[in-house]
Amino acid sequence: MAYKTIQTKTEGRVGVITFDRPSALNALCDELTTELAAALEAFEADEDIGCVVLTGSAKAFAAGADIKELQDRDFVSLYMHDPFAKSWESVARFRKPIIAAVAGYALGGGCEIAMMCDFIIAAETAKFGQPEINLGVMPGAGGTQRLPRAVGKSKAMDMCLTGRMMNAEEAERAGLVSRIVAADDLLDTAMEAAEAIAAKSLPIAMMTKEAVNMAYEMGLTEGIRFERRVFQSQFATEDQKEGMAAFASKRAAHFRHR
Ligand code: HXC
Repeated sequence: MAYKTIQTKTEGRVGVITFDRPSALNALCDELTTELAAALEAFEADEDIGCVVLTGSAKAFAAGADIKELQDRDFVSLYMHDPFAKSWESVARFRKPIIAAVAGYALGGGCEIAMMCDFIIAAETAKFGQPEINLGVMPGAGGTQRLPRAVGKSKAMDMCLTGRMMNAEEAERAGLVSRIVAADDLLDTAMEAAEAIAAKSLPIAMMTKEAVNMAYEMGLTEGIRFERRVFQSQFATEDQKEGMAAFASKRAAHFRHR
């Protein structure tokens, strides 16, 4: 399908979505988030896709929601035609593994979308921030909730209240990103990680993602019980039989995603 504000491609079992609105530093206008939701839906439906990489340009992953589009909205219109519920949440709802590969600005909604991904690989040029307070609002797509879970209360408050940016090094130190790479290596590194994930059993990878995300939803005892039950259920899959048989006979596993 042809999109106007994003580009998509498939490489092996990896789907790549690239924000492509350079004139506005990939600001997340309605059209872009609608296209993003459609692309994710297509990758989710495609049995041959095992992992997705979401990325932007060298200058910006995304500089946030489109401020010019938002500025004249009112409460009722935002409530009734909630862009967040309609399309943004598609990233958080996406059931397959998804990696954010971030170079340049990931601000406001850009930072929030990156945090909806399973993990963030940052170029050394990456800059993260929740500058909404400078616009007279606060984060509205999960920033006040996901940022403290990622970096702790003190740094999250600092970011949300001062609106300052955090560079890649600070973001890695704080646990917001899993690794930092040279800007030129960003996509290759993200693709390598995505290919490694896509070579695993897809249902097992999806259950693993679901279980890790449960750590943010439930208490420890319930979470451990959830994990154990899902672990036990994995012994009903062919891929568990294949993975363990392959290990025992010293050969590579060939997962069939079932
Ligand atoms: C609309 C944007 C934009 C945005 C940049 N642009 N960010 N347009 N919405 N969020 C546009 C600029 O208007 C400009 O267009 C062009 O992109 C280049 O931007 P410059 O500002 O000229 O670039 P630069 O000087 O390099 O500064 C980069 C920047 C700055 C520091 C990232 O653009 C900036 O502060 N942007 C806004 C960041 C922000 O506040 N994000 C939070 C948004 S609120 P023209 O036409 O002039 O060339 C949010 C809430 C989420 O995200 C809620 C979810 C429901």
